[in-house]
Amino acid sequence: MVGKGAREDALSWRLAQSSSCAAVFAAPGNAGTASRGENWPIAATDGKSLLARAQAEKIDLVVLGPETAIAAGVGDRLRAAGLAVFGPDRSAGRLESSKVFAKRFMERHGIPTARARVVHSLASAERVLVDWNGACVVKADGLAAGKGVVIADNAAEALAVVRAWYAAGIPGGGSDVLLEQKLEGREVSVFAIFDGRTFAPLTSACDYKRAGDGDTGPNTGGMGAYSPPAGFPADYEAIVAREILEPVARGLATDGERYVGVLYCGLMWTARGPVVIEFNARFGDPETQVMMPRVQGDFAALLASAARGALEPDAASFTHEACVGVVLAGADYPRASAPVLGISGDVALGAGKTAFWGGSARRDDVVDADGGRVLTVTALGATVAAARGEAYAAVRELAARMGAGSALSYRSDIGALGDSVVSA
Ligand code: AMP
Ligand code: GLY
Repeated sequence: MVGKGAREDALSWRLAQSSSCAAVFAAPGNAGTASRGENWPIAATDGKSLLARAQAEKIDLVVLGPETAIAAGVGDRLRAAGLAVFGPDRSAGRLESSKVFAKRFMERHGIPTARARVVHSLASAERVLVDWNGACVVKADGLAAGKGVVIADNAAEALAVVRAWYAAGIPGGGSDVLLEQKLEGREVSVFAIFDGRTFAPLTSACDYKRAGDGDTGPNTGGMGAYSPPAGFPADYEAIVAREILEPVARGLATDGERYVGVLYCGLMWTARGPVVIEFNARFGDPETQVMMPRVQGDFAALLASAARGALEPDAASFTHEACVGVVLAGADYPRASAPVLGISGDVALGAGKTAFWGGSARRDDVVDADGGRVLTVTALGATVAAARGEAYAAVRELAARMGAGSALSYRSDIGALGDSVVSA
């Protein structure tokens, strides 16, 4: 398992419970992965060292967690050496690592997405924005760790963003910027597994991106999630398969791209149905933390079948139970992510509840966390409301035993559906 976040902790937790899996190693891993297998002190982007160690340990399946590993070509290098890798090569991974590539791909293959113009300079942005009406989403082309998207209310605000970016450097270090129409609707993250030829829908989740209750405050990597989503049309997964996933699979084949791994479709459910906001070439964080507790069957066999190019969609499935996950973050997250030292390392909870560590390391009985998103506390329940009650009970239980960790902050409305559920 390549990576070190709570997403990777949740994946390794589920892989370790798969009947086809003998052992799980993580590189570089975190306090959670260390509790169930060895952590290798190798960075997620260090393809050379990962290859050497994976060969030495005769690893059967490598799962790429973060987009940085994919964009660094770790998949290409390991696959070229004959290893089974779940995660796309760098080229197909451009569906995430280049927003311009993804936009052109969607336009070429008739995949619904927001209209956008690509600009290469401040002067061309000025020309495009002269007759722009309404809000404008300004997006940096490359990977920018969540800092490459600004929603501007009008053309003047958008131009100010573009001007600042061209003056100070575009987030992610690229040179192109997209100016995109703002979509209205509700967001949902839909996941599907591709084996290079075919695909199988996995499940989906709703993520809470803003720092504060009621979707206020700055954008974050995600403060919580629940799965499955509520308030979408009953047949929404079939609609997404038909309108998005099938044209994606055909488009990849037409373009000669072999995509092996999970495709994360960040969708806006608009009045005319699902529209793609973005693709990611990896699992979501915190979506994965609320999807893994719902898995039944042999998840390792599912990922291995995709890596082999012979997808076995029935190897694993998802229960109808709901799962809610609450992220506990450093007090100043996302403005600052100072380390949180000396948190109680005991995060074991009762049946149906699991806490996953973000970037962190064990030191005897305690854990030192990098800061930012420290833990995702999850609980299953018959309904989202029941799972939410259990998840917050678990948060209170952990806060009482956490010592330094009790200074962590979290949203209190994760999974509180209330008025946000529109019946479609
Ligand atoms: P991205 O990095 O593309 O996922 O964008 C981050 C967030 O910005 C998304 O999760 C949305 O909440 C928002 N966003 C991005 N593009 C759009 C759009 N065209 N319309 C409305 N919201 C958007
Ligand atoms: N949940 C947002 C992401 O993983 O990109």
